[in-house]
Amino acid sequence: MELTETGWQYAPAPESRDIVTIAPQYGLFVAGEFRPAADGGTFATINPASEDQLSVVADAGAADVDAAVAAARAAYEQVWGPMPGSERAKYLYRIARALQERAREFAVLESLDNGKPIRESRDVDVPLAAAHFFYYAGWADKLEYAGYGADPRPLGVAGQVIPWNFPLLMAAWKLAPALAAGNTCVLKPAETTPLTALLLAEVCQQAGLPPGVVNVLTGAGETGAALVRHPGVDKIAFTGSTEVGKLIAADAAGTGKKLTLELGGKAANVIFDDAPLEQAVEGIVNGIFFNQGHVCCAGSRLLVQESVADAVVDRLQRRLATLRLGDPLDKNTDIGAINSRQQLDKITELSAAGEAEGAQRWAPPCPLPDKGFWFAPTIFTGVSQSHRIAREEIFGPVLSVLTFRTPEEAVAKANNTPYGLSAGIWTDKGSRILWMAQRLRAGVIWANTYNRFDPASPFGGYQESGYGREGGRHGLAAYLDA
Ligand code: NAI
Ligand code: MG
Repeated sequence: MELTETGWQYAPAPESRDIVTIAPQYGLFVAGEFRPAADGGTFATINPASEDQLSVVADAGAADVDAAVAAARAAYEQVWGPMPGSERAKYLYRIARALQERAREFAVLESLDNGKPIRESRDVDVPLAAAHFFYYAGWADKLEYAGYGADPRPLGVAGQVIPWNFPLLMAAWKLAPALAAGNTCVLKPAETTPLTALLLAEVCQQAGLPPGVVNVLTGAGETGAALVRHPGVDKIAFTGSTEVGKLIAADAAGTGKKLTLELGGKAANVIFDDAPLEQAVEGIVNGIFFNQGHVCCAGSRLLVQESVADAVVDRLQRRLATLRLGDPLDKNTDIGAINSRQQLDKITELSAAGEAEGAQRWAPPCPLPDKGFWFAPTIFTGVSQSHRIAREEIFGPVLSVLTFRTPEEAVAKANNTPYGLSAGIWTDKGSRILWMAQRLRAGVIWANTYNRFDPASPFGGYQESGYGREGGRHGLAAYLDA
């Protein structure tokens, strides 16, 4: 009998939100202090699970970008650039430890502002963010052994623009390697998720980080554009949509600014008939329903070998019926809220296109809360390669299922995308894993697992998924004049 058919229910197990104090208003973090925007501009950030306002944050304009870049420049020239790597490392270790000590506070705040389940913010986002600071702290005094020359130099001031899907973790991916290499930073969090970056700014104060080494400017696309166009910025790091990535690349061309882009994806998760199917089903679920599918490397295209397609889809449907959607702060929640109404509209529109183009839509019975932004976990079968849902990044809890007969066909279909960020391979045969991995055009390839991250492992894409690598020794190259 199915779990859901027994009528047995979990009792609510909410994580307390008392651990975090959210101020009614936040300033910009410039030169080590919080201050309002020069023109007094503000905007609200909401909890996407309830649509309640959480706080009001400053909206940085051109004058604030000037001030933050100037603060970062002064800190670079006077303090951080000349500081021995062994000293810089101490600050990074302090930030890492503070992240661990305040982990629950960060996890609750992340789930409130972003809508992701507390289980994920607590077990993935926050520990990985701390791990990135620990990892790069270890490199700060060993840069000459990183393989980028005997005396690798930092680039200067880094302008870093990040998205809303992993707000704290993306801040850590950007800041930790930049600081370890001796750069100073101006970070622009996404407009729907500014709060954990501001708490991280508080942690920088707590760690005694010299003023101006890290600056945080809250604001929307205009603030991001002003930052990346600023002549005082030596290095741009961007994670977000391919559309904005292309604008930034065009802007940066010819300026001499070093640029790394981590953009969208439409990853193939390839299941062969000899794969352990129960395990593969867990990998499929983790691949596309983790973080509501708001994951650039999500396994959004399932390629399943025809002989096991029905068995896999059947198991997948049974598994989806057990997923729990609702309150992100409930420790039993698997699927939280969609981050914004705008993103919900995009998912809704692309899913409607899937039906209109002839694919079969399926979702388990799944009551959605009245308030907030929600989307039931959804599978499309009968998807063909030309369908929009097989080509465009949906960035939501929606899986497109395609089939293949031979490994050659799997490779051809997997590579039939303008993206190239990640891929998954599920098979019992090691030789087939290697054969596939050599042919898949993707920056990250998981075998018999999915969505696993480690600070020591480089991450990044091919083609329209961007260029440059984050994480590992490779991630240092983006911040060194190597
Ligand atoms: P976006 O690319 O507009 O936003 C990402 C960041 O860039 C935010 O901080 C935003 O304020 C900033 N930004 C926006 N316009 C800018 C500009 N002209 N110059 C500099 N910075 C700018 O992404 P959005 O609108 O939030 O999401 C749209 C779609 O993009 C999603 O549906 C998804 O498909 C994709 N996306 C992919 C991400 C990834 O991790 N690869 C992350 C976020 C979105
Ligand atoms: Mg929010």
